[in-house]
Amino acid sequence: MKVLLTGAEGMLARDLQPCLRQRGHEVFPLSHSQLDITKREAVRAAVNGAAPALIINCAAYNKVDDAETQEDWARAVNGLGVQNLCLACQDAGIPLVHFSTDYVFDGTQDSPYSVYDRPNPISAYGRSKLLGEQYVLWLLNRFYLVRTSWLFGLHGANFVETMLKLGSEREQVSVVNDQRGCPTWTQHLAEAVVALLDTGCYGVYHVTNSDSATWFEFAREVYSLSGMSTEAIPVTTEQLGRPAPRPHNSVLDPFPIPQVLGRELPTWKQALAEYLARRKALARQ
Ligand SMILES: NC(=O)c1ccc[n+]([C@@H]2O[C@H](COP(=O)([O-])OP(=O)(O)OC[C@H]3O[C@@H](n4cnc5c(N)ncnc54)[C@H](OP(=O)(O)O)[C@@H]3O)[C@@H](O)[C@H]2O)c1
Repeated sequence: MKVLLTGAEGMLARDLQPCLRQRGHEVFPLSHSQLDITKREAVRAAVNGAAPALIINCAAYNKVDDAETQEDWARAVNGLGVQNLCLACQDAGIPLVHFSTDYVFDGTQDSPYSVYDRPNPISAYGRSKLLGEQYVLWLLNRFYLVRTSWLFGLHGANFVETMLKLGSEREQVSVVNDQRGCPTWTQHLAEAVVALLDTGCYGVYHVTNSDSATWFEFAREVYSLSGMSTEAIPVTTEQLGRPAPRPHNSVLDPFPIPQVLGRELPTWKQALAEYLARRKALARQ
């Protein structure tokens, strides 16, 4: 089917495109400079012009700390931009795939967050992403609303790359050890989402690599798998003093992904090993 992809130069979008093509879909990618989703008329014109059978929205304002002082901007992209896409989907009678975040939860729960737990964001970014979710739920009947978390991928700035860079410059790197979540490789997320499209099972999903980690545990694995001697030093969120509050627990329960897709995603450790190998192979080319 013909798929219009917004935010097409982002990290996830870059991995989604080959996955969609491999599955026989025709992709109509629009980068930020080609389509600003905050412009309602431009969104309408792009959808009318391309006449897609589905829209996948990868456009987002993702600067978690900056959003604390730029909440209007975050809301414009992550909230009102999504509203524009929903209205265009309504007009065209087509479904939307939209991505949201573990940061819609407050992190006070002891167990993983399921799709029926109530969001309660504690940051401006989280609030803006919740607004986007609400527009999807308010305006559309057919959607895949996919919450995911802690993304790393070959085509964007991410935690793994930051750790590798810091590790090449220092012997010790301080990393937060009181936030737990599910690191997720954009390649595995893209494959799962493309498989989801074949099911027609619309709804809210949590799609992450399986198993959880703290940022410290994640960093330690990055250094170990990369054969680096850098030591990750565990610190608290308070010690690091970042502007935006983050949930202490944002582990996402995958139900109903295993039931709908017939499989769970690989563990984050498997994903990280594959990512590092792929990255190394690309560097050799
Ligand atoms: N990264 C994570 O750890 C993470 C975690 C949980 C959920 N998510 C969600 O997963 C999705 C994909 O994330 P990602 O990491 O792949 O994002 P990303 O790499 O930051 O890509 C987002 C893209 O959206 C574009 N964009 C920003 N404002 C736009 C606008 N007004 N109109 C059109 N495009 C715009 C950006 O372009 P510019 O660069 O030119 O601004 C960028 O190309 C997002 O919905 C995100 O919220 C991400």
